[in-house]
Amino acid sequence: MSLCPALACHWMRSLGGNMKKAYFAGGCFWCITPFFARTKGVAGVVSGFSGGEEEDPAYEQVKAQQTGHRESIEVTYDPQQTDFETLLHIFLANVDPYDGGGKSIDSGHSYTLAVYYQDEAERTAAQKALDAIPGAQIALESFRGFYAAGEEHQEFYKRHPEEFAKEMEESGRTKVLSEKGERLLRQLKSFAEEEPWYVSLLPNAAALIWETLPDLNWAGFYLMRNGVLALGPFEGKTACIHIAPGKGVCGTAVVKDCTLRVADVHEFPGHIACDSASNSEIVIPLHKNGRVVGVMDLDSPSLNRFTAGDQTLLECFAKVLEEYLDLGELSAQ
Ligand code: SME
Repeated sequence: MSLCPALACHWMRSLGGNMKKAYFAGGCFWCITPFFARTKGVAGVVSGFSGGEEEDPAYEQVKAQQTGHRESIEVTYDPQQTDFETLLHIFLANVDPYDGGGKSIDSGHSYTLAVYYQDEAERTAAQKALDAIPGAQIALESFRGFYAAGEEHQEFYKRHPEEFAKEMEESGRTKVLSEKGERLLRQLKSFAEEEPWYVSLLPNAAALIWETLPDLNWAGFYLMRNGVLALGPFEGKTACIHIAPGKGVCGTAVVKDCTLRVADVHEFPGHIACDSASNSEIVIPLHKNGRVVGVMDLDSPSLNRFTAGDQTLLECFAKVLEEYLDLGELSAQ
């Protein structure tokens, strides 16, 4: 199989530094690629085949279940910037772990899920993650080789966005992702119905987001107190305590009273860097009785992490909070 320019570029980069590779089978390889491609530290994602005996199988053979391979991806990453655990987390967040390869249009062994480990550390990390999802139909196999698919299969989501969207829909992936969002909102509602007091509700709200959305390094709240935003419940590293309205992304979202989705925080004038790992951010103002009472803030180590779909989901999440939230003594502010 000839080497396409995009692959050659990936390989050149990987030869240049101390790059590492990770291998996953996540069903249709067209669909799983973009979730890794936007991750910080990922130099390239190649669609191909793993797990079978035959050398250099053809796409049609694998699709017809003739070789024992699975559609797989090779993720080349910089271990200084990301790690196998993070990639594993992204993989698990973007597949239906209970799909044994038979539920969607992509059915059969070649569309089943697998993590291919290359050493004991990867095996242990993957086993631990899989043990946390009882009933998951994800194989854990020793890596035996990877064969790149033809150029027409590489970066499919960029080359053929409409066909990609159709495949996402028909393979049931869009549904899985939206089901995840619906579950998140249902869980938040049930917490809010049991106890709307902000001291109880907001830590669980931050934890729900942290557990559900991949690729975050901070998720939490700032609440208006004495005219400034004061740090509220969160998940992530310690953060700055006060932010004045108009300052940083959070204070700007308060003054403008709108969601700010920032693809690259380093380009945002006055961005406040609490955690140097942050590269993109989304901030959503929270209202009570017609005024802004705080913000929900999510940071990611990846550039351009937050999609329009994420924004819609998080705005629905904020609406549920606004409906239930009891701000206690802060209501008098
Ligand atoms: N980056 C924010 C500050 C808060 S931290 O991200 C947790 C800002 O610029 O307002």
